[in-house]
Amino acid sequence: MKERIIMIGANGQIGSELATALRSRFGAENVITSDIREPHASREDEIFEIINVLDKSALKRLFEKYKPTQVYLLAAMLSATGEKYPQKAWDLNINGLLNVLDLALEFDIKKIFWPSSIAVFGPHSPKQNTDQYCVMDPVSIYGVSKLAGERLCEYYHHKYDLDIRSIRYPGIISWKTAPGGGTTDYAIDIFIEALKHGQYACFLSANTALPMLYMEDAVRGTIELMDAPSEQISIRSSYNLAGLSFTPAEIAEEIKKILPNFEMSYVDYDPRQAIADSWPASIDDSYARNDWSWEPKFDLASITEDMIANLKTNV
Ligand code: SER
Repeated sequence: MKERIIMIGANGQIGSELATALRSRFGAENVITSDIREPHASREDEIFEIINVLDKSALKRLFEKYKPTQVYLLAAMLSATGEKYPQKAWDLNINGLLNVLDLALEFDIKKIFWPSSIAVFGPHSPKQNTDQYCVMDPVSIYGVSKLAGERLCEYYHHKYDLDIRSIRYPGIISWKTAPGGGTTDYAIDIFIEALKHGQYACFLSANTALPMLYMEDAVRGTIELMDAPSEQISIRSSYNLAGLSFTPAEIAEEIKKILPNFEMSYVDYDPRQAIADSWPASIDDSYARNDWSWEPKFDLASITEDMIANLKTNV
C-alpha cells in the first residue's frame, strides 16, 4: 500500500530530522509536514502546511486534503516551558492528542505515532533501570499530560483498534535543530557553549544522571517501531527506550578529551533541577529490545565526537 504521512509539529527538534528520514524513505511527495509556524528553511519539493493542532476543523481539512495513511503527532510543550504555562501545556499535549485520535478514527488512519517521555515517571518510580511497569507519579505538568496521553493511546487501541505506537523518549541529543524548553537541553547547550565560549554554566548539578539518546538512534528506533508488524507491538501505551545515561560531570570530562581547555561550572539554583531529580537515572528497555529488536548504537564517546565535529562548522 502506498503510504502518505502527515507530521504535526514538524519544525521541532525531533520532527525536523524524522521528516527528512521519512521523505527519503517514502518520497517527498508523500510526507506532508505541518507546524504552527513556517519552517526556517525548506526545499522546493517539500509539502508544508501551517496548522494549529488545537484547531480541529483546520486539522480535519488537512486530513481531507491529503488523506493520510499515517500521522506523526509531535506538537507538544516540554517539561521546563510547561511549568511556566501549565494550562497551555495540558491543553496542547492532551487536546492536541484527542483531536488527532478522533480524526484518526473518522479518517481510518492506519498508523499513528505519538511520543511520550521519561517524564511520566516520578519520585516513587525506581531510579535505576526503571521498569516499563512501575509506580508512576509524575510531578511536572508535562509528565502528567504525557502519562494521561499514554492512557488515552492504550484506550483508543483497545476500544477502537487504532494502531497507535509510542516511545517514552529520554533526552534527545542532536546538533541540527535545537530543542525547546526541556530539562535535558543542557546536554546540547553544553556543546554549543564549549565551542563558542570554552565554558558552560550547567543548570543541573554535577551528579544528576539522566537517560539520553542520540538523534540518529532516536530516528532509527522510531522508524523501526513504526515498521514492526502490529502483532509484535505488545505495548500500546508507550515503550521505555534507553540509549545511555550520564551526568553533567561525565559529559564535561568527555568534552575535555577533545577540547582540553573546556571549563564547566554549575549554577546555584534552577527550577529544572527538581524536575530532573524526579526522573529516572536509567531505563530498562527490554520490551523494546524483545518486541522489535531495539538496540542503540551511540555511546557517550561517539556522541561527543559527532556533536563536536558537526557543530564546529555550524556555531
Ligand atoms: N527532553 C524532554 C524534556 O526535557 C524529556 O522528554 O522535557
